[in-house]
Amino acid sequence: MNLIFLGPPGVGKGTIAKYIVKEKGIPQISTGDLLRAAVKEGSELGKKARGYMGSGGLVPDNLVIGLLKDRITKDDSQNGFILDGFPRTIPQAKALEESNVQIDKVLNFKASDELVIDRISGRRTCKKCNAIYHIRNIPPKVEDVCDKCGGELFQRGDDKQEKVKKRLEVYREQTAPLIDYYKEKGILADIETEQPIPGIVVDVMEEI
Ligand code: AP5
Repeated sequence: MNLIFLGPPGVGKGTIAKYIVKEKGIPQISTGDLLRAAVKEGSELGKKARGYMGSGGLVPDNLVIGLLKDRITKDDSQNGFILDGFPRTIPQAKALEESNVQIDKVLNFKASDELVIDRISGRRTCKKCNAIYHIRNIPPKVEDVCDKCGGELFQRGDDKQEKVKKRLEVYREQTAPLIDYYKEKGILADIETEQPIPGIVVDVMEEI
């Protein structure tokens, strides 16, 4: 089963994806995580992507499409995957189709701007295992320490308030048109995220 998780930054796509990975046994493929790993490693792609990511803009389509196509050829993706944060533009969606990647369902995660800003500003991520917390909603047992691996928690550079505004604008201009794009194909389902996580997981499982 091939799924797309669509929605504004900070709506909870990555958090919910981790539950669906366990339920369905398919990997979560986050282009954001892949790009952050490339930046950390200092690869050519990482050097090119760094500035775009730091400013809250999108990394150019050709770079992200190449990265994604490479990732979905890996062994673990052969029985399906969750694309978390890809596609983010119409050309990215078309590139998937041109590669004959069949998408079964697009989950459109919804929340108000106020809620996503609150979620992003309180988000803390583990440096070692990428686990996601929220200082109030989903706090770790010990402040700034990952419950799962003991790694240090940090705030992503693009989660600072001025970058978040830009990311929301970019979402509205370049990514939100994908909602109608997939609605017209009859494979889009809205998921209301202004509720506790277990309810969201149930709603997603009912749709897929
Ligand atoms: P990326 O890493 O994909 O960021 P994003 O889409 O902006 O999404 P986020 O990771 O910010 O949020 P999320 O929806 O996963 O929320 P989360 O689960 O963490 O991309 C980063 C950058 O990389 C982009 O800006 C761009 O530059 C580049 N990039 C990536 N993909 C690209 C592409 N395809 N094309 C071009 N450029 C690309 O949750 C957020 C917080 O809320 C957490 O603290 C969590 O604990 C909390 N939370 C979640 N759900 C709930 C709930 N139900 N109740 C209470 N709290 C909750």
